[in-house]
Amino acid sequence: MEFAFFKKIKSKILSILNIKFRRKFKSRHETISYKSNAWKSKKSSYVYDKKVERFFFNKITWPLISKNINRNSEYIIDVGAGTGRLTSKIIEMFNDLEKTPLIKAIDISKNMLDYLPPKPNLEKIVAEATNLPIKNNSADITLAMDFILHFPNWEDFLHEMVRVTSSEGKIIFNYVPQEHIKLTQDLTLLNPYPVAYTEYTANISESNLSKFCKNNNCTLQKIIPYNFFVCNELFRPLLSSSNYIKFINEYQKIYTDEKNKKLLEVYKDIEDLFIKNGDLKMCNLALAIIKVN
Ligand SMILES: C[S@@+](CC[C@H](N)C(=O)[O-])C[C@H]1O[C@@H](n2cnc3c(N)ncnc32)[C@H](O)[C@@H]1O
Repeated sequence: MEFAFFKKIKSKILSILNIKFRRKFKSRHETISYKSNAWKSKKSSYVYDKKVERFFFNKITWPLISKNINRNSEYIIDVGAGTGRLTSKIIEMFNDLEKTPLIKAIDISKNMLDYLPPKPNLEKIVAEATNLPIKNNSADITLAMDFILHFPNWEDFLHEMVRVTSSEGKIIFNYVPQEHIKLTQDLTLLNPYPVAYTEYTANISESNLSKFCKNNNCTLQKIIPYNFFVCNELFRPLLSSSNYIKFINEYQKIYTDEKNKKLLEVYKDIEDLFIKNGDLKMCNLALAIIKVN
């Protein structure tokens, strides 16, 4: 009984501190420079490589991405590649082919790229993503995962990705739909901790993306919402943070334990409902597929 009481106090204090210490940037410039420098040190790169979420990336995100990567691709660029969570999946995808595409992993942090093991068809480049050392109109596919969603100047990155991608080539990246953020903010009464806009600084919505494409000679081919059960902001107020972690751990078990196969089908059906209906409001993340004209 006593133990439960202290646990409750502790979680209350933690939730208050969490709100108090939420980082607030004073200007757009400060946000951009903080986020660009965040993974430069040896320590932060080490922590990223150890802690980055791989389970749901491999089970949910990668299958959605790989469906949009053509097996005939000859030149692929991964922008903001980090320690290579996505790059290594791309390399693996072409392993069985005689002719593998040239893959360039680009990041502002050398320490991050150092975690990516060398491969004959892989080139690692330390560079700023708004000024890529890549020829115009050259890549078949240009990707950026968990990268531009952090930046208020997301259009600068996207411009550069359009520049380096060949006509008829594809750009693939993920972002946090502003439609989802808005819904969580509209539900303030139910949700004591509505998502702060500053947590996801890229203001990307379907209409913003369509406008960008119209002005930049590309076509918005598809938006695929995903992550209904994982890090859905709508679940946060329903579950305390420790329960949320428990929920995610249990959800992970559903994927790994054979005896949960039936349950997994039910979960997948629910997730599919939102993904197939393209309901951007309901999912924490979305994958955008843009074709360069
Ligand atoms: C959250 S990590 C994502 C890494 C990887 N794409 C993944 O999915 O695991 C964001 C990466 O973007 C890189 N980055 C941040 N600002 C950048 C910039 N201006 N130019 C190039 N890379 C940048 C960081 O160094 C970091 O490796």
